[in-house]
Amino acid sequence: MKSSSEFNFDDLQGLLRFGHGKLTDSCFLLLNIKDADAAKQWLSAAPVTNAMANPHLKTALQIAFSIEGLLALGIKDSLIEGFSDEFITGMSGNESRSRRLGDVGANAPEYWDWGGDATQVPHLLLLLYAAKGGIKAWRKKVEGKDFSSAFELLRQLPTLDIGQIEPFGFADGISQPSVDWSQQQTTDTHDRDRYSNLLAVGEVVLGYPNEYKQYTARPLIDPKTDPIAADLPTAEDQPKFKDFARNGTYLVLRQLDQDVPGFWQFIEKEAEADPEKRTQLAAAMVGRQRNGSPLMPESVEDIPGIPSSDHLNHFTYQGDPVGNRCPIGAHIRRSNPRTGDLPSGSNCIFSRLIKILGFGLKRPDEDLVASSRFHRLLRRGRGYGPVLAPEDAVKPNAPAAERGLQFICLVANISRQFEFVQNAWSMSSKFGGVQHERDPLLGHREPLMSGADTDQFNRPDPAGPVLKTCHLPQFITLRGGGYFFMPGLSALKYIAAMPTNRSDETL
Ligand code: HEM
Repeated sequence: MKSSSEFNFDDLQGLLRFGHGKLTDSCFLLLNIKDADAAKQWLSAAPVTNAMANPHLKTALQIAFSIEGLLALGIKDSLIEGFSDEFITGMSGNESRSRRLGDVGANAPEYWDWGGDATQVPHLLLLLYAAKGGIKAWRKKVEGKDFSSAFELLRQLPTLDIGQIEPFGFADGISQPSVDWSQQQTTDTHDRDRYSNLLAVGEVVLGYPNEYKQYTARPLIDPKTDPIAADLPTAEDQPKFKDFARNGTYLVLRQLDQDVPGFWQFIEKEAEADPEKRTQLAAAMVGRQRNGSPLMPESVEDIPGIPSSDHLNHFTYQGDPVGNRCPIGAHIRRSNPRTGDLPSGSNCIFSRLIKILGFGLKRPDEDLVASSRFHRLLRRGRGYGPVLAPEDAVKPNAPAAERGLQFICLVANISRQFEFVQNAWSMSSKFGGVQHERDPLLGHREPLMSGADTDQFNRPDPAGPVLKTCHLPQFITLRGGGYFFMPGLSALKYIAAMPTNRSDETL
């Protein structure tokens, strides 16, 4: 058994371990490569931040590449083949993918500001962070003098320090999986029947065992054919090979515009201007109060990966099968149903045995929601746009502005983690027994092919009939997005040392 201090954090980019929350200023740059050799020279000296704990950190830099970026730098075909199909095809590169992700109607790639077609996919994403007031100087230092001959700036994404509050006004960044850096937790199904917040390293970092006890497929290199691979880590599962992706991850970025006045004015109308009803409906849609308090009571059970002192997170939906306290369709319940490998129910040994043997009664909420552990995301987004308090947003003359979230998540498997959550949990109009609704925050409201509507939000009320909210408008619109690969530091050195001419392929 290892301790987390034994984990080799110096080869990971820091964002895998930290959200850089204390570095309140940020600057996200989308770049294209103008001159591959100049770009590699810059990359070889870039002051990329690793994941070693550093309480004195005042600045940070993280770098990620799209497939187009890796191609522009001359990566070999044999390495490309090792990446996942989603990464190779890209977020907007396939109509079926767009439909599954809910990128239809106003969210369709044709309307995006960036990344919407192959010619608009940025090669590189630079994420810069600095302590208050320090971002301008940090950007200047990072860019150095030859930056503009190496790269073309496609777009600087807006970001703003709005603290731990997202633009609708809710506390954010409360629930994250705890990565099991010490690799102590078992992945055995029967021992993992209840919800655990402790997640196998291989779910977020490539080159380590995941929740299936498997190594996610990734690019490996035979060192005999490639002398510059010598400094890459060895593949743990296939020691004859060097592991190009070890200590790297996939980074999903989606620029999500939030219609803050539209959100609060709709809620105000539904609540007939009653402040209590307004608070209740908004909290039910999110699954938490604005200050982050969950709608569920604290669990009395131990939840691995969540200390009992973490009062905002120490809960599951175990005691609320129909959503009387937290509606099944609430954003946080859809995004992480907090289930274990066996369907929810009583914890007594006898009833667990009945379920293991498959004799338990099926409930309608047990369709898609089991086994959250295979679908967790490490969220690392930042908000943008001028702050508009809900109290001002409800006023008819509330100022419109571009506001939203640069949603970022880090995953080892884009399709099983981000795309599954987005498709099967957030955008699906059938989830956990509820129908005719998509995620009340994230969802588009396009009807189904059958014509059935999907713009409702239902809240069971133990004291009476279900509280139905109809004709929800779309509050969030996608403005751009892409899939990136964030390499480990030794792989970054390999990328910077690759020959630009890809003719070495035959070596
Ligand atoms: C503008 C868009 C979004 C807004 C305003 C938003 C807002 C929130 C808020 C207020 C929370 C509760 C705070 C917390 O638990 O950390 C939350 C949690 C969460 N959101 Fe979002 N979110 C957005 C987009 C997304 C997207 C695109 C996904 C994934 C597809 C997502 C997945 C999650 C997850 C996994 C949680 C934690 C749930 C839990 O573990 O209990 N969110 N979000």
